Amino acid sequence: MSEAIVGGVMGGISVESLSELYVKYENDLRAVRDAQREFLRQRGKTMKAQLDDYEAEITYLLVREHRPDKLVEIGTFYGWSTMWLLSALRDNGKGHLYSFDIVDNVVRNVPAELAADRWTFTKGDVREHLSKVPSDTDYLFIDADHGARFARWYVDNLFPAVPNGIPTQVHDVFHGRRPKPLSEGSVVIKWLAEKNVPYFTPSAAKAPEVIEALAAVKRDLNLAEPVRDSRDNPMIFFTLP
Ligand SMILES: C[S@@+](CC[C@H](N)C(=O)[O-])C[C@H]1O[C@@H](n2cnc3c(N)ncnc32)[C@H](O)[C@@H]1O
Repeated sequence: MSEAIVGGVMGGISVESLSELYVKYENDLRAVRDAQREFLRQRGKTMKAQLDDYEAEITYLLVREHRPDKLVEIGTFYGWSTMWLLSALRDNGKGHLYSFDIVDNVVRNVPAELAADRWTFTKGDVREHLSKVPSDTDYLFIDADHGARFARWYVDNLFPAVPNGIPTQVHDVFHGRRPKPLSEGSVVIKWLAEKNVPYFTPSAAKAPEVIEALAAVKRDLNLAEPVRDSRDNPMIFFTLP
């Protein structure tokens, strides 16, 4: 078993469980992929997207499966992850997204019909808005400042402010086999190791066999056409201890 999928996390996440989710939500996922691709085509270079297709799709599938009521997103940038998260809440027919970012480009990008009444955006440094993170948050998505200091802040302040046991994902951890020294990734991986918490990553740099297996599933389902062109997928997924 890959070092990156030891133990099965987030209630049993693994290549096998994700393959089942691809099959279970195939048609809805196809519609979201098509909508996202079309959005990018229309916006061209004025839209800067960060999550790669595997990360975005796994995020969509996990939000569908966990059906959170209060999802918190830290780091929206132009709104690529925001749109995938909101699409999953729309398709669940329930749930609210609370997003935080220092910049507010996202507000101009997220289509009104997607935001509807399911989205609250707070502009500013999340460290100064911790009180706006709901104490009953039940899904956490972090893709913000990639420095060690910020990671120490969220480990010490944000994690204790939300319930234990919630699905959590952090971007920019495995751009290589190991997190960069003095990075957000090095802090969060050390913290998880100290707590003996397993994580899952689709990172091609860390666990190439994961992407290989999921690519085969996508080919079988006719979901292989890229939404955007990126092969960088450094995200980790874990259950908050
Ligand atoms: C990599 S981008 C997010 C990309 C986005 N998730 C996507 O899928 O396209 C990181 C974002 O985090 C924001 N950020 C950095 N530090 C932050 C902080 N302390 N509080 C809130 N947002 C922060 C930045 O302004 C930036 O827009």
